[in-house]
Amino acid sequence: MCETRMETISLIVKRTGQPTGDQEERWNRFIVPYAGESMNVLDSLIWAQRNEDPSLAFRCACRVGMCGSCGVGINGKESLACRTMVRDLRGDSDEIRVEPMRHLPVVRDLVTDTSDFHAKVNRAAPSTELGGAQFAAASVSPLSRERRAIEPQRECIYCGLCYSACSIVGLDDEYLGPAALNRAFVMLADSRNQQSQDALASVANEHGLWRCHTLFECEAVCPKGISPTLAIQRLKRKVITNKLKRLLKIIHPG
Ligand code: FES
Repeated sequence: MCETRMETISLIVKRTGQPTGDQEERWNRFIVPYAGESMNVLDSLIWAQRNEDPSLAFRCACRVGMCGSCGVGINGKESLACRTMVRDLRGDSDEIRVEPMRHLPVVRDLVTDTSDFHAKVNRAAPSTELGGAQFAAASVSPLSRERRAIEPQRECIYCGLCYSACSIVGLDDEYLGPAALNRAFVMLADSRNQQSQDALASVANEHGLWRCHTLFECEAVCPKGISPTLAIQRLKRKVITNKLKRLLKIIHPG
């Protein structure tokens, strides 16, 4: 008689801060039925929570890579759980290790407190809505070089994966980080922004632009294919160009 064995995956989740008050870190293994090609890591977490441990904590909302709430570390790499297919992780081992994002306080299990991350984004680019008071009404062609440079960088969903992957954030907790500086680029590269010089000065400091060591760790994990490194380099060039222009005026007045 032919016996059919159900395929399973071994989901190993880092747990912290249980409802009982136990704050000790530990790894829990869940044996999850493999649901086929379309199964993603978020599906496996949901299965584990519904069938094994209702106290397993993680965040999700849209489940289609839009809201940015399901960011975690998966087998050592920052990823969105809803966009990481189980089939793509099954090559080397049937184990999937999931842990919370780095550089953010853990609230419980995979849930992190992102308030510091969002505060830095707001600090780097205070007006979160383009069209605020500092923006002139002039229109800019969507085909202009300026818009073509800005548009891809606007796709950020503020998931925090780049912040977690960035080694410099781990070394300097005041560092604004890739997403915040990318947001600053989106604001400052817009020629309609009438306060761009002030805003540029506020990010051109030791905890802003100059702290980036161009390691490209942020772009390696961005689920939207954005390169915050490129945005940071463009802002650095803007600062240096402005300084050189001022210097030239002093050396060659008139
Ligand atoms: Fe929204 Fe994953 S649940 S991005």
